[in-house]
Amino acid sequence: MRVAIIGQGYVGLTIAVGAAAAGHKVIGFDLNQDLVERLNSGKPHIEGISDSQLAGFISSGLFTASTDPSDLEGSGAIVIAVPTPLDSNRNPDLSFVHAAAELINQQVKTPALIINESTSYPGTLRNEIAPRILGVEHLFASSPERVDPGNTQWGTKNTPRLVGGLTPAALAKAREFYGSFCDSIIEVSSPEVAEAAKIFENTFRQVNIALVNEFAQISDALGISSREVIEAAATKPYGFMPFNPGPGVGGHCIPVDPSYLAHVANEVGVPATFIKRANEVNLAMPAYVVKRVIAGCGESIKDKMVVVVGVSYKSNVADTRETPAAAVIDLLREQGAKVVWHDELVGSWRGESSSPIAGADIAVVVTTHDGVDIDAIKGCGYVFDCTGYLAGVDGI
Ligand SMILES: NC(=O)c1ccc[n+]([C@@H]2O[C@H](COP(=O)([O-])OP(=O)(O)OC[C@H]3O[C@@H](n4cnc5c(N)ncnc54)[C@H](O)[C@@H]3O)[C@@H](O)[C@H]2O)c1
Repeated sequence: MRVAIIGQGYVGLTIAVGAAAAGHKVIGFDLNQDLVERLNSGKPHIEGISDSQLAGFISSGLFTASTDPSDLEGSGAIVIAVPTPLDSNRNPDLSFVHAAAELINQQVKTPALIINESTSYPGTLRNEIAPRILGVEHLFASSPERVDPGNTQWGTKNTPRLVGGLTPAALAKAREFYGSFCDSIIEVSSPEVAEAAKIFENTFRQVNIALVNEFAQISDALGISSREVIEAAATKPYGFMPFNPGPGVGGHCIPVDPSYLAHVANEVGVPATFIKRANEVNLAMPAYVVKRVIAGCGESIKDKMVVVVGVSYKSNVADTRETPAAAVIDLLREQGAKVVWHDELVGSWRGESSSPIAGADIAVVVTTHDGVDIDAIKGCGYVFDCTGYLAGVDGI
């Protein structure tokens, strides 16, 4: 089948490769000309997809990236995989989803299966996408993406895939499409259930991470190690799931998706109190880190050379979206410290480049990638670890 995927970011390219591997002829559509040229030259921009894999699909005609909207026409399936960020008031910004729907409305006159994989609140497919695509008998389904960038155990193929259709025919067609490259398809009774499941999954993580972050602060005040407590609690074979404390939450999902749920909750008159409190706790973690660093040093950090190690939001990925490292660095600078950062995957970020670790008075470890130079970190005068990766140093 000819498949068009709107948006070639983390999600869109991952699905493109999955569908191409199943023998579909994939058009990876994106507005970003540089990205499209890069992809067509066989250079993927995300972890987990190799140059040779992408180049192989290009040379066999199974993948082509395009900025030409007319390439959407004639596709059996069209997948929407565009950003769903928050606006400046932390409310859902569906402008990218609306633009994708309007693009389909203008360009696609042959009936197709239209699937939304972008994460959004329940009702998005039915109320925000389908009504913008008129005059053609398309089928509409929702299948929220669960990709975990950098995860080598769970990928598109073996992660169970939720599917909900606006009609039984749409559901059946979506099942057939995803069944061609996913091992397990879980049909739910409506697109709203699929959409809600995705944001509830991420809300579950956000709230539990906030809980463990609060618990880490309680433990520290009590003089016990939160990580040892969590390890001990996790020996219970039922009813407990371990989460680790850290400097906050980052990426496109955990800090963002729960606010989509809070928004829709507000619209139906139910206060989303857990989400609000979890946001507050997680957003306050960088300030807690800086407070602990100052307390650990035993003196002012003014004019101290500080290196923040790891600025991506999680290990072994280069993604810096919503990373708590940004607030940690800004707050350290507010205290007068001379702050540089080191990240072997990120390279350059916010107009600055990665610096060496060695020679700093203070190292604050926010994220650790495999192969990070532990000796260089431990060679710094004072080390504060937010990751639990380094033994025998201060941290959370
Ligand atoms: N990144 C993740 O780990 C992850 C996991 C699961 C779900 N999601 C969800 O998937 C969706 C996409 O996220 P992402 O991480 O892939 O985003 P991304 O920013 O990596 O990529 C989105 C791409 O869409 C393109 N784009 C924007 N508007 C477009 C348009 N009108 N037409 C064509 N292309 C357009 C952008 O140029 C960009 O390349 C979001 O809803 C996100 O919440 C992300």
